[in-house]
Amino acid sequence: MINIAILGFGTVGGGVYEVISRCKKKPLSDVNIKYILDLRSFPEHPIGDRVTQDIDKILSDDSVSVVVETMGGDGVAYKFSLAALKAGKNVVTSNKAVVDKFGKELEAVAAENGVVYLYEASVGGGIPIIAPINNCFKADDITRVAGILNGTTNYILTHMQSEGKSLEEALASAQKLGYAEADPHADLAGLDSARKIAILSGIAFDKYISFESIPYVEGIEGVTSEDIALAEQLGCVIRLIAVAEKVGDKARILVAPHLVGNGSLFSAIREAFNAVSVTGSAVGEVVFYGQGAGSLPTAAAVCGDIERAISGSAKTVTRNDCEPDFIIGADPEAERFITLANGKKYRYFE
Ligand code: HSE
Repeated sequence: MINIAILGFGTVGGGVYEVISRCKKKPLSDVNIKYILDLRSFPEHPIGDRVTQDIDKILSDDSVSVVVETMGGDGVAYKFSLAALKAGKNVVTSNKAVVDKFGKELEAVAAENGVVYLYEASVGGGIPIIAPINNCFKADDITRVAGILNGTTNYILTHMQSEGKSLEEALASAQKLGYAEADPHADLAGLDSARKIAILSGIAFDKYISFESIPYVEGIEGVTSEDIALAEQLGCVIRLIAVAEKVGDKARILVAPHLVGNGSLFSAIREAFNAVSVTGSAVGEVVFYGQGAGSLPTAAAVCGDIERAISGSAKTVTRNDCEPDFIIGADPEAERFITLANGKKYRYFE
C-alpha cells in the first residue's frame, strides 16, 4: 500500500481519484488516497470520509509518500508544497502558478530533501510534454517551442467560427465544461498561455524563465467574429499561439492571436485541444497533440507523475538562472504580419 494525499478536491483532484480508482497497473493500483485536504466536505463521495482540514496531520504522517497539490492559486498551495517537500514527501502538481513563481525554490528544496517536485500537468493538460523535453530532447539544441496552450480560448475561437457564438457565449460553455480558470481573464488575456510558455521555454532553454519576464502577451479579447470570417476568406483560422524561439543567443517569447493557414497542423486544433511543437536542431519539428484541459486528461498527467515519483524513475531537474537580457519580445520588423480586409493586423504562424 502506497499512501498519498490530495490537496484540493476540485476538478483535477477529483479526477485524480477517478484515474487511480480505474488503474489496474502497479504501482498505481497499490495507491491509497489516505487524505483529502479541502475546506469543503464530500459526504456522498466514496472516500468523503478521508477529508481533513489539517495539513499537519498529512505532513506528520510518515506513511504518506506523495502529496498531490491540485488546489490552485499561489498562496497556500505554495506554502503547503514547500512544507511537504521539507517533510520529505514527493510533490506532484498541476498548478502552473506555483510552478511559475516558485518552481526554482521548490525544485531546489526537493533536491535537498531527496524527493521530487513534478508538474507535467501544469502545461498542456493530458499531453506529455515536460518529461519529453526534459528527457528525450536532452541531447538536442531546442530552437523553438510553440503551442496552442490554452483550451478555453481554443474552444472559444472554434465555437465563434463554427457556430457563430459570441465570445461570452462560448466562454460560458467552456466554464460549464470545467476548462476555464477560476478567473477566466487569465485565459482570455493570454496570461495562462504565458505561464505555460514560460515553463516550457525555461525547460527547453535550460533556464528559469518567469511569466513576468515575457514582454508581449496579447489574448483573444480583441478577436471579433468579423476577423474570424475575414481570416477564413484568406484560407486561415485564428489561434492563440505562444512562441518561444531562439534568435542567436537570445530568445523571442510572446503570446498573441495568430493567423494560421489551413494547411498547417495547428489549424486543425479545435475545441479544448492543445498542440505543442518542439523543434530541435537535430530532430527537426515534433508535434504533441491532445486534451489540454479538463478533469480526467489533466488527472492522467498528474497520475503519471505520481507513478514516476513512487517508482523513483523521475528526478527533479534544476536549471540555470535567466540572464536579464536573454528574452526579447515582439519585433514587428522580424515577424510576418497579414492585414485583414478590415485593416486589422495579425501575426502569421508557420
Ligand atoms: N484554463 C486552462 C485552459 C486549464 O483552458 O487551458 C488548463 O490549464
